Amino acid sequence: MPDCGATYPLEEIRTACDRCGNLLDVAYDWDRLRVPASLSFFEQKWAIRSDPHCFSGVWRFHELLPFAPVEKCVTVGEGQTLLHDSPAVARYVGIRPGRLFLQYEGMNPSGSFKDNGMAAAFTHARMVGARRAACASTGNTSASLALYCSVTQLMKAVIFIGSGKISHGKLSQALDYGALTLQIEGDFDDAMARVKEVCKRLGIYLVNSVNPFRLEGQKTIMFRVLEALRWTVPNWIVCPGGNLGNSSAFGKAFYELHQLGLIPRMPRLAVINAAGANTLFELYERRGLRWNEGRGEMGIADRYYQEMDAARRRADTLASAIEINRPVNLTKCLRALDWMHGVVREVSDQEILNAKAQVGSGGLGCEPASAASVAGAKKLVAEGVIRPDEQVVCILTGHQLKDPTATVAYHTDDRAHFEKVLGSRNVREAPYANRAVHVPNDLAAIVEAIK
Ligand code: F0G
Repeated sequence: MPDCGATYPLEEIRTACDRCGNLLDVAYDWDRLRVPASLSFFEQKWAIRSDPHCFSGVWRFHELLPFAPVEKCVTVGEGQTLLHDSPAVARYVGIRPGRLFLQYEGMNPSGSFKDNGMAAAFTHARMVGARRAACASTGNTSASLALYCSVTQLMKAVIFIGSGKISHGKLSQALDYGALTLQIEGDFDDAMARVKEVCKRLGIYLVNSVNPFRLEGQKTIMFRVLEALRWTVPNWIVCPGGNLGNSSAFGKAFYELHQLGLIPRMPRLAVINAAGANTLFELYERRGLRWNEGRGEMGIADRYYQEMDAARRRADTLASAIEINRPVNLTKCLRALDWMHGVVREVSDQEILNAKAQVGSGGLGCEPASAASVAGAKKLVAEGVIRPDEQVVCILTGHQLKDPTATVAYHTDDRAHFEKVLGSRNVREAPYANRAVHVPNDLAAIVEAIK
């Protein structure tokens, strides 16, 4: 990434360039590496289930992220995920049935897409001899880090979370997996700033997506999408935007595949913000900030952050996973948007919850932040940006059980409970609610309720 052209050795622990301050990319000398002539090469590996590195949905693609020898790569069985064709959700979004797919990353060991990146960052952490690894998190990165530490016993996890800003599902994972869990007074943006300082001071390995190895692992989500589509390229990839690691990784994945001649073209990218945490939307769509080959006018972002601070505006959405106002991967995401001719949209919490209910009733379910992708796709179809006959892949980033609070409140018939949990977020209605039916403990009444 550093547009100044600086390079650093793989063995160094660093996330940003000393000269230009930009985050780093993992760069490969592809000419000297063995790159398969076609993507179908990877299918042979898929059949070798007894080798953990072939079983892993990340390391199966090792040739496309070869920063460590394959035998040194850490795996806990991540990436066994599914591209689900959902006609029900397609109808909701306004896409022709059979053309809308949901990439369900909730099937990962810790229940979110983060395991893709953690397998890679953890591998690098081991390469450099780290004994402790840390992250700030809205809950999924921390669950993933904690799980990799507990399963492998290679490192101790140190986790920074905003006080009261994490769903119980995710908090329970960090605690259960034995991570040292610090609840910082403040939100994710505060925790992120602190964890960077602490890692520097104490020499702890940082696994947030400022870490370029995380993004290498997350590229494989796109490789699996292509694999499921028989190595054809869809028209659109739609994903939620929080810290913007995924969108950045997806851009790099397709750019590299294109450069290597392994795909004929790149899909378009749509990044979807929650309206209560819409920095990317504001900067890209309203203020016209662009990557511009690394010469983007980043002062636009600095001014926006100053305004935000002056107005004491904090991120605020029930999609807590993406409740982030200062996305650390902003520049890389701008680059991905440039490469993939991207668009950014914002969706309200009401739109997110409606979409989530549709994903639940028409598929594998997801947590609120994930449903932003479906709500965003719906909006883009309504605007005519996505055509109904285009092939669209929405990324479902996290498992349905990650954050049941909003789900239960959405489906409840207890208005007071609904108002308490959702009213403050301007969620007023639940048109797709599936209400529990209350019946007395009486056989005839129960039978009547079922008939
Ligand atoms: N969806 C879920 C379920 C997430 O947990 C996150 C990020 C995102 C989407 C946004 O992805 O950051 O790549 O744009 N969660 C981070 C965490 C911030 O700490 O778990 P992004």
